Amino acid sequence: MRAGRIPREFIQEVLARVDLVELIGGRLSLKRSGHSYMARCPFHNEKTPSFTVRQDKQFYHCYGCGAHGNAISFLMEYDRLNFIEAVRQLAEQAGLPVPTGDDTGSGVASPAPDTQPLLDLQDKAAQFYALQLKTRPDAARAVDYLRNRGITGELARRFRLGYAPPGWRNLPPQWPEPDLISAGLCIRKDDTTYDRFRDRIMFPIRNRRGQVIGFGGRVLNDDKPKYINSPETPVFRKHRELYGLYEALEHTRQPARLLLVEGYMDVIALAGSGIHEAVATLGTATSEEHIQSLFRYSSELVFCFDGDRAGLQAAWKALEAALPYLREGRQVRFLTLPGGHDPDSLVRASGPAHFLAQVDAARPFSEYFFERLCDSLDMQRIESRASLIKLATPLIAKIPAGVFRSLLEQKLAELSGYQPAARPTPPGSARRNNGSASSSASGKPSLMRIFLALLLYEPRLAGLLTEASRQQIIAAPRGGALAEKILALLQDNPNLSSGSLQETFRDEPEEGFVRELLIWATSNMVSSQLEAEFTGTVHKLEQRLTEQRIGLLLDKSTRSALDGKEQDELRTLLRHTGK
Ligand code: UTP
Ligand code: MN
Repeated sequence: MRAGRIPREFIQEVLARVDLVELIGGRLSLKRSGHSYMARCPFHNEKTPSFTVRQDKQFYHCYGCGAHGNAISFLMEYDRLNFIEAVRQLAEQAGLPVPTGDDTGSGVASPAPDTQPLLDLQDKAAQFYALQLKTRPDAARAVDYLRNRGITGELARRFRLGYAPPGWRNLPPQWPEPDLISAGLCIRKDDTTYDRFRDRIMFPIRNRRGQVIGFGGRVLNDDKPKYINSPETPVFRKHRELYGLYEALEHTRQPARLLLVEGYMDVIALAGSGIHEAVATLGTATSEEHIQSLFRYSSELVFCFDGDRAGLQAAWKALEAALPYLREGRQVRFLTLPGGHDPDSLVRASGPAHFLAQVDAARPFSEYFFERLCDSLDMQRIESRASLIKLATPLIAKIPAGVFRSLLEQKLAELSGYQPAARPTPPGSARRNNGSASSSASGKPSLMRIFLALLLYEPRLAGLLTEASRQQIIAAPRGGALAEKILALLQDNPNLSSGSLQETFRDEPEEGFVRELLIWATSNMVSSQLEAEFTGTVHKLEQRLTEQRIGLLLDKSTRSALDGKEQDELRTLLRHTGK
């Protein structure tokens, strides 16, 4: 699904009207250099500029860290906006009225009008629970509980902590029941309605704008379940939201790093110890959306998980979710907490200085990655080295192409003693290609890859394709579907810039592949030779696809009779190739 429901046509209209050079030039100092503008990359640390902005293509590209995108991506990454906010801002700049619609697309967009009553109710509930904690005589137990856990009144206020009193029905009776139920504050069973949260410490969960979107509630003793959480509602999406993120950003707008911990109490205890940069998932595994959102605010994430089995599993889940977002200039590190501790108990037991020293010493991604993979393997054995390659390769492949991925590939080669093929060579010198969309075993890009990369990089090349070539290419078993999609987009809108074309793949399954192709093309294509490269590639690709098709039909004919259509096709193909 696309991020948000802003119509694709509108997004393309916006991208066609804004100028990327102007947009980026307003934020970085750009120097003109031939066809492009250069700057020091804002997404990783560097001394010599390797960040380029192309006016003709409406994309930016960093040769150092592999950052690549259009105006929308730039605002998302640089200004830390979510998708909807980025489109809005560009639309305003271009003087286009933004269509209204469902806004719950990516990150925490401004709420669509009909979610406002829900947000208002959650906020009123947070006020209600906080008031109970302060004023109710029987809240003394809750106050004592918090005090025993070292939570001061100041800290409780900052996190808007509250108390849901005991008893089945305490929320104000004048609040409409249907609203309470759809907000997840009440539960309806048979003919009765009762409060979901009873005799619990209440942790309001806030979105990026500080709006209360749901609650966690903890028992005051060891009863089970220890925590219950609000159900998913249109404003509360657990795989997207992070507890404590709003509070962390309130404290520091651009934190140097963010700590990802497991629990509400960890976030609060750390904040109480002066460590304001911790956030927690809401009792769910870390998702890609969590990681994406965290990287919007900080370039360094430290995962702090318990050392028990569940903690190790959670850490691995987080590692997997982080893979697509890793690149040079971003860091993910791992802190495995010692024996039975969580951040709350550790900071309490040994103090903030000790905790921060542990965070500083947290293991870098590559170290942790290979250590966990090698954990159960005896690296002296050849079989184990083969297993390592088998385990690591698909994971590393999820990391966007660039310096960081290359470093991991190198490390894998060192550890396994197996030297993979050299880096992809320019397409002109790629000789042994097959018609598939994957790289050939030698690491050289296939003809289909080169074809797709050229189209994405220089969309107007699509105009050079004959109808017969188009038919043949979109029928290719691998890569044909993507070629068809791209060509259809360009048929409707032949003047799309490379940056706009890339935009149509945001949040689509092909997003990563498209990005990879564009990064490859940007590094390997020579502008003056694009047309020749394209026609040459198409020619070779057609030949290859024809050969493959002939092979397939001949192969089939040895096993069963070809039908009339297939016989005709084979005859035509053979005549065509002169065999
Ligand atoms: P933990 O069991 O580690 O709890 O669960 P904790 O945060 O250390 O809590 P305290 O210190 O005992 O108060 C970690 C997180 O998992 C979710 C909550 O988000 C919790 O903060 N969780 C846990 C639930 O949603 N339900 C549960 O029953 C337990
Ligand atoms: Mn705990």
